[in-house]
Amino acid sequence: MVYMKRTATCGELRADHIGNEVVLNGWVHRRRDHGGISFINLRDRYGITQVVIDDNAPDNLKATAAELKYEYCIAVRGKVRGRPEGMKNPSMPTGDIEVAAEEIVILSTCEVLPFMIDERTDAKEDLRLKYRYLDLRSGAMQRNIRIRHEAAFRVREYLRSRGFYEIETPTLIKSTPEGARDFIVPSRIHPGKFYALPQSPQLFKQILMVSGFDRYFQIARCYRDEDARGDRQLEFTQIDMEMSFVSREDVFEVTEGMMQHMFHHAIGADLSIPFPRLSWEEAMDRYGSDKPDLRFGLELQDFTPFVQEGTFSVFKEVVAAGGIVKALVVPGCGGFSRKQIADLEQTAKTFKAQGLAWMKVTGQSLEGGVAKFYESLAPRILQAFGAKDGDLILLVGAPMRVAQIALGAVRSRLGKELNLAAPGTFSFVWIVDFPLFEWNEELGKWEPAHHMFTMPQEQYLQTLEQDPGSVKGDMYDLVCNGYEVASGSIRIHDPEIQKRIFNIVGYDPADAEVRFGFLLNAFKYGPPPHGGIAPGFDRLVMIMCGEETIRDVIAFPKNTLGVSPMDDSPSYVTEEQLKELHIRIVPPEA
Ligand code: AMO
Repeated sequence: MVYMKRTATCGELRADHIGNEVVLNGWVHRRRDHGGISFINLRDRYGITQVVIDDNAPDNLKATAAELKYEYCIAVRGKVRGRPEGMKNPSMPTGDIEVAAEEIVILSTCEVLPFMIDERTDAKEDLRLKYRYLDLRSGAMQRNIRIRHEAAFRVREYLRSRGFYEIETPTLIKSTPEGARDFIVPSRIHPGKFYALPQSPQLFKQILMVSGFDRYFQIARCYRDEDARGDRQLEFTQIDMEMSFVSREDVFEVTEGMMQHMFHHAIGADLSIPFPRLSWEEAMDRYGSDKPDLRFGLELQDFTPFVQEGTFSVFKEVVAAGGIVKALVVPGCGGFSRKQIADLEQTAKTFKAQGLAWMKVTGQSLEGGVAKFYESLAPRILQAFGAKDGDLILLVGAPMRVAQIALGAVRSRLGKELNLAAPGTFSFVWIVDFPLFEWNEELGKWEPAHHMFTMPQEQYLQTLEQDPGSVKGDMYDLVCNGYEVASGSIRIHDPEIQKRIFNIVGYDPADAEVRFGFLLNAFKYGPPPHGGIAPGFDRLVMIMCGEETIRDVIAFPKNTLGVSPMDDSPSYVTEEQLKELHIRIVPPEA
C-alpha cells in the first residue's frame, strides 16, 4: 500500500488555498452519503476538514470510500475548492472549503467503537478510561491536553525569567511528612527495606536552599495513598517552588505573576493582581470554609445577637453552651419546598450540624419554620441581614466551627445549584494566618496543620507551648473558585524552634532523627531563611479548562477506586518477582 504523506493538516486549509492540490492524513470523524455524493469529516489534532467524493468520481475511488467506517485512519489526496454558497459552515475554521478527493488510501481500519468520539458525556467514565486512547481523540480532551501543555511551558518560561532553576529531585526516597500514607517500593538489593514515593519534594527543596540554589522549581510528580475524588489523584503534579531570603510577600508576588502569565497564555484570561487576602478566621466566619468560592457573595451572617430575645429554646441552649448561630440569607428562594430545604439540611448534617432551621421573608415579616419564635424581632432581623421579601433565611446553631462549616457547606451547594458563579471567571484569594496546629480528637494530640517545617508567626514564639491552639503559622493557601490551588509557608531554619515544634506534636528527638535526620543535619551547615509554595498543577488546569474533575485534564488518570481500567493497574505480580523481593502475601482476612 502506498503511504501518502500529508502536505497539510486537517485544521489549516482556508479560502486562500482554493485550487491547491493537498494530501491530508487523519481519522474518519463522521460520514454522510447523499445519493451519489458522499462527505467525510476528516479529523486530526489540528481540526476537521470536509472531504467530498463526488458523484462522478471514478468507481475505484467510490469503492474505497464505501469501505470507510468511523475512525479508519486514512490518507486523502485531492483539490481544495470553495464550498457552494449555502453549504459554508461558519462554525468550522475550515468551513469555507472542502477537499474534492482524487485518491484515498486506507492506512488502518478500526473496530466497532465502544463510544462515539466527541460524545463522551454519553459514555460511563470507566469505559472512557478503558479506551482512553479513543477518549483522548475527542475535541474536549485534545483541548484540555493542549491547555495543560501550554500552561506547563508558560510556568517554565515565567520562572526561568525570574531566575528560578528547574531541578529534579528523586522519586525513590525516604518517606516525606505531608500527612497522607506513603506508597512504598520494596528494595531487592536490601531485603526488608523500602523506598517511599515522594508525597512532595518538600525536604529536598529545603535542602536545595541549604545548597545555595536560592530559587528552585520543579513540575513534580507527587504520590499520596489516599482516597481519590474529583480534585484528588493518587499521583498528581505540583509546581513545586522554594526561595531563600524571602518573606511571604516575595512568594506571593512571584506566584501571582506566574498565575497571570500562565492564564493569559494558556486560555487568554487576564487575571488582575495582586490577589485579595483573607485571614483564615475571616474566611471561616464569612464563608464557612478555608477555600471559599468568591465568585458569589452569599455570606454567612451572625444570628447569635437575636437568640436571647427570641423564644427558640434550642438556640438558647446552643448559645448558653458557648456555641453560636449562623445565618444565610438566600435571595429569592422563599418559595423553596420543604423537600428542597430538607435536602439542604442533609448537607448541614453531613457536616455535624444537628439540623437546619429556616424562615421565609414575606413582606416585612417572617413566616414558617422557626419564624414564630422571632415574630417581634422581624424588622430588626431583616434590617440587620438586608433580607427582602421572597428571601429564605437558613440557620445553624452549634459550636462555632461546626456552625460555620455546616452552613458553609450549604452555601457552596447553593452556589452550584443556583448557578451563582458566572462561568469563565476566576476568583483568586490568598488565605493567610492559619492556625499552626490542629487538635486531633481521636489521638488526643496536636498535629501540624500544614507540615512540621512551617514557621510560627513571630509574635507567638514566646508562647508556643502554653497555648498551641492559638498559634498562627507563617503559612498560606491560594484558593480559586472554591478549590485550594496552592499551599505553602515560610520554613523553620532554626534547629531550636524545630525541636520545640517536634516536641509539641509529640515527636521525640530519636523519632525525628530517624525520619528527618538528613534535613536536620543539613540545617547544621548554614541554612538560609527560606520559604515556598506548591501550586497543584492538575487543579489549576482543571479550572482553566472549566472541567469538574482533574481526571479530565490528566492523560491517563486513575478512577475513583485508584484503578486504571486501561492497563489494569494495580495488578498481581509473579511469585518469582515477590520471591526476589523477599515478600510473601498474607491474604486479607475474610
Ligand atoms: P500540599 O499538600 O498542600 O502542600 O499540596 C500542595 C497543592 O497540591 C495540590 N494537591 C493535590 N492535587 C491533586 N491530587 C492530590 N491528591 C493533591 N494533594 C495536594 C493542591 C495543594 O494545594 N510540600 C507542600 C507545599 C509547600 O509547603 O511548599 C505540599 O505538598 O492544590
